[in-house]
Formats: sequence, C-alpha cells, structure tokens
Amino acid sequence: MSDQKVLLLAGGSGSIGSAIARQALAHGWKVALHGRTPEKVTALVTGLSYLGTVDGFIADVWEEEAAESLIAEVVEQYGRLDAVIDCVSTGPLGITGLLPETAPETFGDFLNVSVGWVERLALASYGFLATQGGTFIALVSDAGIYAAARQSLIGAARAGTIGFIRNFAVEAARDGIRAHALSTSFVEGSDSAIRRGSERMARAARKAGLGLPSADDIAPLALFLCSDGASKITGQVMSVNGGMNA
Ligand SMILES: NC(=O)c1ccc[n+]([C@@H]2O[C@H](COP(=O)([O-])OP(=O)(O)OC[C@H]3O[C@@H](n4cnc5c(N)ncnc54)[C@H](OP(=O)(O)O)[C@@H]3O)[C@@H](O)[C@H]2O)c1
Repeated sequence: MSDQKVLLLAGGSGSIGSAIARQALAHGWKVALHGRTPEKVTALVTGLSYLGTVDGFIADVWEEEAAESLIAEVVEQYGRLDAVIDCVSTGPLGITGLLPETAPETFGDFLNVSVGWVERLALASYGFLATQGGTFIALVSDAGIYAAARQSLIGAARAGTIGFIRNFAVEAARDGIRAHALSTSFVEGSDSAIRRGSERMARAARKAGLGLPSADDIAPLALFLCSDGASKITGQVMSVNGGMNA
C-alpha cells in the first residue's frame, strides 16, 4: 500500500470541494474528485493535475448504490481511503426563504442528500476508513446550528446531518474513525453566493466582523481535521463564517 493518503471529495466539483481539492493536493494528498457532470469534473481534474495525483469520479447520488459504487471505484484505483469529505448539495433553491415562499417539493431531495446520502456514504466508506483510522466530514450550513428567519427547511435538513455525525462519531471512534460537521454560511465567490445576489451578500458581510469567508478559507480547517494533528478530535461541529454567527 502506498504511503500517500487518499481523500475522496464527494461533490468535489463544486465551489468548496474544488478549493479543498487544490489545497489537499498541495499538502500531498491523492485526491479522488467526484461530481455529477463529467465535463465539469474533467475540466477541474485537468486544471489541478499539475499539483499531484487527482482523478475524476462520476456518480449521480440518486442512482441505486451510488455510494457503494463510488467508494469501490476509489478503493480499486488507489488501494486505500483515508478521508471522505462530502460537499454534495442540491443547492439552496426552494429551501431558503420565508416558509410560504419555499417550494416544499424540493425539500425531499435536500433532506435525502443531507441525511440519506451522507449516511450511505459513511456506511460505504466505513470499513476502508477503519483500516488505518480515517476521517469523515460532512459540509453543512449554519442554518442547522443557529436559528434565523428564512432558514426553516434548510435548518431542519442540516440539523439532521449534524445529528447523524455527532452520534456516528461516538460509535465509530472505537474503530478509529473520526467524524465532523463543517459548517459555513455565506461564502464569497461560490455559485451559491451568485444565486443569492449581491444585496444579500452585502448584508451578510456587514454582519460578519471578520469578513465573509471564501472557499479557500474553509479548506484549511477541513484538511487539519483529516490530519494526524487532529487524531484525538471527533464529533465536532465547527463553523467558518467570519463571525456572522457564534
Ligand atoms: N456555498 C455556500 O454559500 C454554502 C453555504 C452554506 C453551506 N454550504 C454547504 O457546503 C457544501 C458545498 O457547497 P458548494 O457551494 O461547494 O456547493 P456547489 O458549488 O453547489 O457544489 C455542489 C456539488 O454537489 C454535486 N451534486 C449536486 N447534485 C448532485 C447529484 N444529484 N449527484 C451527484 N453530485 C451532485 C455538484 O455536481 P454538479 O456540479 O456536477 O451538479 C457539485 O459537485 C454543501 O453541503 C452546501 O450545502 C455552502
């Protein structure tokens, strides 16, 4: 087995995942970069490959056994798996806003990604992460931790992810697996920020005393939590939000 550690970034072709991929490669990780859209994944992998070993993996999370197949392909390719960071999102459309303005029909998919997909991914990767002690991180939203107007649906779904991670962390620790929920709120430069529009971003920026984070500000904490320096830390819910919520 090669000494080089392997990180799977599920939803790695998105704004936050691609920033984590870049920094992980710079820190010597091999990166398995997953996304749904082949062209997007290929372009990203091509652009990052000068930094180290990075390969693309395509899977739609709604396909049957998507998590099992994805994990099997990654382990087949590299022979090991040391960390999984889940950044898959169906996007905020229809699940944020005052309750009468939300689109309840989109809530089922978001809830399924937040709880069902995260659970399936953790279960599929469990045996491989347990082999040498690995880390499982789910990206969540501050809406799952802090109450605010316009966040009922996203808050409910992300609270579900957090509940899963905290309980999972306690039992998985006996197999050497660490698990965390890494949260954020408004992220400068992300696709989600563009969808939210400049006025909402400006309002959020005024609330965040340290300034809103970019995806590059989130990646270092994710990688620290996957490192040997974090070997006694598990079950934590940490937010990189520039001081917007505390
Ligand atoms: N950006 C923010 O402002 C913000 C704020 C709070 C929390 N978060 C959380 O942080 C995480 C990452 O956010 P992000 O901004 O990086 O998201 P993003 O840019 O929208 O990326 C989402 C990722 O999920 C993938 N995906 C979506 N539907 C999929 C499906 N059916 N099957 C497989 N993959 C699918 C996308 O692939 P394709 O592009 O190919 O569809 C992409 O790789 C998410 O959990 C999000 O909720 C983000």
